[in-house]
Amino acid sequence: MKISEQAVVDALRTVEDPDLRRDLVSLGLVKDLKIEGDKVSLTIELTTPACPLKEKIKKDTEDALRAVPGVARVEIGMTAKVRSSLSGGQERFAGIRNIVAVASGKGGVGKSTLSVNLAVALARTGARVGLMDADIYGPNIPLMVGLSAKPKTDGKKIIPPENYGIKVISMGFLVPEDQAVIWRGPMLHGAIQQFLGDVAWGELDYLLVDLPPGTGDVQLSLSQTVPMTGALMVTTPQAVSLQDVRKGIAMFQKVRVPILGLVENMSYFICPHCSDRTEIFSHGGGKRAAESLGIPFLGELPLDPAVREGGDAGKPVVAADPASPVAVKFLEIAESLAQQISIIHYSRPDFSALSI
Ligand SMILES: Nc1ncnc2c1ncn2[C@@H]1O[C@H](COP(=O)(O)OP(=O)(O)OP(=O)(O)O)[C@@H](O)[C@H]1O
Ligand SMILES: [Mg+2]
Repeated sequence: MKISEQAVVDALRTVEDPDLRRDLVSLGLVKDLKIEGDKVSLTIELTTPACPLKEKIKKDTEDALRAVPGVARVEIGMTAKVRSSLSGGQERFAGIRNIVAVASGKGGVGKSTLSVNLAVALARTGARVGLMDADIYGPNIPLMVGLSAKPKTDGKKIIPPENYGIKVISMGFLVPEDQAVIWRGPMLHGAIQQFLGDVAWGELDYLLVDLPPGTGDVQLSLSQTVPMTGALMVTTPQAVSLQDVRKGIAMFQKVRVPILGLVENMSYFICPHCSDRTEIFSHGGGKRAAESLGIPFLGELPLDPAVREGGDAGKPVVAADPASPVAVKFLEIAESLAQQISIIHYSRPDFSALSI
């Protein structure tokens, strides 16, 4: 029996991407569809290699195709192409598909830790990832990723050093370790621009930007001069941190930077000796705040000595011990972040124009 192409396409129209809530055909995710005898083969091009629903989408597609009369064999390849949030007139940033700020209200809640581990987690899924340390007052990223050498240039641009599969740039590479940098407004504006524009990033799916705490000049400068896909907010569960993160969220919303989600860090501590759970900074406030603000809650991370040790030793826990429970949590949050980025692209009315 000859397989009808129309029946195959109709079957594919019944398979939804659960995040984007649309079918694979209308989303344009079906590529290289071929019908040969009793075999149907195709490639599904996901919107991120970090898609946590990869296997489900593949299985649903397979089931739908097998129900088509005449189909005996199904071959599905999976690939991914991250969409860009840049539009025309932003050539300076060409090649960088998504710029994501990692921000908080209060200091010390884990922005840098999260930036590093999420960057490494995204790279492990196959994405091309950069990490920019925009905490020019206290750049911690070089230490946390185990890089210290001054970056080289290719004559025109700075070549970002790489470790754990991510490209990294930080003011910490350029000023001696124990010297303070004093930046005033306009200088700072220039520094951020230069950091982004004068670095040979190459092609990146995600560039994470680790911010200093609060809602000061760096955050504003970045929001005004850089086409950001959105901001990931970090808080601890305690009231003071939640109060401050609300301010941070309000600032980004005011300058029209979408909030990609909120993460609660230092949510709880599991005693390694007795397995007892202690909620040192309280628990659950992040989820409640996200719900009340109508923003996605992307998960909680425990207080875990391995996280602190990994940071201090320049060996992020996601790279050093990827199977550990806390590393798995980082990976899940990285996947949720990638999902939110895809959702943002596809919720725009002109989404098809965004693919590159
Ligand atoms: N989940 C965690 N478990 C254990 N230690 C953690 C965790 N998250 C962060 N830390 C530790 O807490 C300290 C502060 O974290 P980090 O530097 O990432 O915060 P920050 O928000 O970037 O701070 P700042 O506002 O100063 O930039 C670091 O020593 C880090 O190793
Ligand atoms: Mg920091």
